[in-house]
Amino acid sequence: MPLPMTVGSDVAGVVDVAGQGVNSFQPGDEVFAKASAGQGGYAEYTVVNSTQVAQKPKSIGFIESAAIPTAGLAAWQSLFDLAGLERGQTVLIHGAAGGVGTFAVQFAKWKGAYVIGTASSKNAEFLKSIGCDEVIDYRNQRFEEIVSDLDVVLDTIGGDTLERSWGVLKPGGFLVTTVAEIPKGVPQKYEVRAERLMTQADGKELAQIAAIIDEQKIKPIVTTVLPLTDARKAHEMSESGHARGKIVLRVAEDPK
Ligand SMILES: NC(=O)c1ccc[n+]([C@@H]2O[C@H](COP(=O)([O-])OP(=O)(O)OC[C@H]3O[C@@H](n4cnc5c(N)ncnc54)[C@H](OP(=O)(O)O)[C@@H]3O)[C@@H](O)[C@H]2O)c1
Repeated sequence: MPLPMTVGSDVAGVVDVAGQGVNSFQPGDEVFAKASAGQGGYAEYTVVNSTQVAQKPKSIGFIESAAIPTAGLAAWQSLFDLAGLERGQTVLIHGAAGGVGTFAVQFAKWKGAYVIGTASSKNAEFLKSIGCDEVIDYRNQRFEEIVSDLDVVLDTIGGDTLERSWGVLKPGGFLVTTVAEIPKGVPQKYEVRAERLMTQADGKELAQIAAIIDEQKIKPIVTTVLPLTDARKAHEMSESGHARGKIVLRVAEDPK
């Protein structure tokens, strides 16, 4: 991407100007969006294609709304658009306490699935409180010795975690990974299907997520809010690999 650029893609705020031919949004609308990479979310103003935008959930504020787009869409598209998770199925979510994982746990529970998550022991009670039926402590337990015959695995970790996941699926099961290439021939060997997620910026799906938030079925998990001037600190926290839920940067005190 050409430099200098403004980083950040997830945004929540108020429409200032709607482009020519845009009828779905008007100035003053309170919205949230996944902008494209390089469109610049870490800023007071950004320009977003109207197909990437949705009205923000009415029951929550801008901070929580800004936590939704990429992680929420990644979880939604992995579980429903790719794996086709259905009521009564069993799903294993690796990295359940993370940004994608906390949405995935709640979406899967909302759908009526049996939900198993991997996390360290400090996150076990928290994950049960948001919908995990079982939590496996990845530091002290090997998940492949505990679960088998699963319908869906959502992998947000990769590496050894992905490699050990193939054998826990039932034949015909589905593995989605957010982080790695699908190794050639491996899904066939285990008689399963697999896809690597590439999250799409989809305003219609954001509107669906907003609706179930307003029905109080799920909620964004925001554990840290920092001013934009602390963006570096926010990235360092994220890069630790052990943040719970989402970190949000506050750009303006009141976006109105
Ligand atoms: N392909 C796409 O379109 C797409 C979209 C979104 C995200 N992603 C990628 O997906 C990955 C996950 O994103 P994220 O935002 O959810 O990450 P994140 O919020 O940074 O994940 C942090 C979480 O990972 C957990 N964790 C770390 N090591 C683990 C392990 N070995 N087993 C189980 N849990 C472990 C931590 O739990 P503990 O503290 O308990 O260890 C922590 O809660 C990232 O690599 C991101 O870049 C890709």
